[in-house]
Amino acid sequence: MDSRYLGKLVEEELGDRTRIWKRKDLIGLGDLSKDEIMLVMEIAGIARREPPPFVDLSGKKVVTLFYEPSTRTRTSFEVAAKALGAEVINIAVETSSVQKGESLGDTAKTLRAIGASCIVIRHRVSGVPHMLSKMLDIPVINGGDGMHEHPTQGLLDLFTIIQHKGKVEGLKVLIVGDIAHSRVARSNIWALSKLGANVFVFGPPTLVPKWVERMGAKICRSPEEAFRDADVVNVLRMQFERQRGGLIPSVKEFSRLFMVDEEKLSMAKEDVCLMHPGPMNRGIEIDPAVADGRRSCILEQVENGVAVRMAVLYLLLGEGGARG
Ligand code: CP
Repeated sequence: MDSRYLGKLVEEELGDRTRIWKRKDLIGLGDLSKDEIMLVMEIAGIARREPPPFVDLSGKKVVTLFYEPSTRTRTSFEVAAKALGAEVINIAVETSSVQKGESLGDTAKTLRAIGASCIVIRHRVSGVPHMLSKMLDIPVINGGDGMHEHPTQGLLDLFTIIQHKGKVEGLKVLIVGDIAHSRVARSNIWALSKLGANVFVFGPPTLVPKWVERMGAKICRSPEEAFRDADVVNVLRMQFERQRGGLIPSVKEFSRLFMVDEEKLSMAKEDVCLMHPGPMNRGIEIDPAVADGRRSCILEQVENGVAVRMAVLYLLLGEGGARG
């Protein structure tokens, strides 16, 4: 076997450790153990190498079924799957039989009958990937469900932090903005807490729910408490499409108090890693000057998304994985 096959490199370098992965699906990071999360990190580290490893998934068909818009997640799943030699079928929900009233379950079972090896789903309703995983005998990957989880975003954020800081344990990680409506916040808090980071959240009280404390995060009451000595600042998008209204006095007021700009970022550590899952609302939650500045890791996050999704596809579909 060619020495650059991802499966061969993983087998040589990680040996039996891949056996801890027994999952058919990836639904959320709340379900994963610290060891499972670290396994994804290690495989993504191998996938990220130059020259990149290749072809493990020839003959597999990865279907993306997105009921909400996406640029990064859908495209990087496609790039990752193709890099591993899989075929990719992107279902355009707007021109599919969903528009004739076909149910989600019937759509998924139809795709399975056509030969899908795996379905990556994004849906506005929390719990849809879990529901599909119970209906189908093929892997289901959550590409973001409502306000619940976005596990591959959480994993690529973690990978980016490890790449920059060499560790997670003991870091001060601040998540700032619209926490209440963010599936990215949930996936990040689960993963970071399991790996021993000190997770802080900051935003308007109407957008910072108390339940984050039960997940292990600390709620900050002032910019000083939030930003001082932060190792990582992860800025979240204002999820206007999920808000019911009346949660902030005005967008202008929100930006004045909570937008991450040079003044706030200067309280963090000099080598702070500034992150944003994208898409950004420039001038609302993040000042373009810092988004494009020297501490920004935002495009690295996007780049790392491909390697992390290669690792996930390998674990779910590859010869070393649960379905291999
Ligand atoms: N971060 C993220 O999920 O981006 P997309 O909506 O572009 O996929």
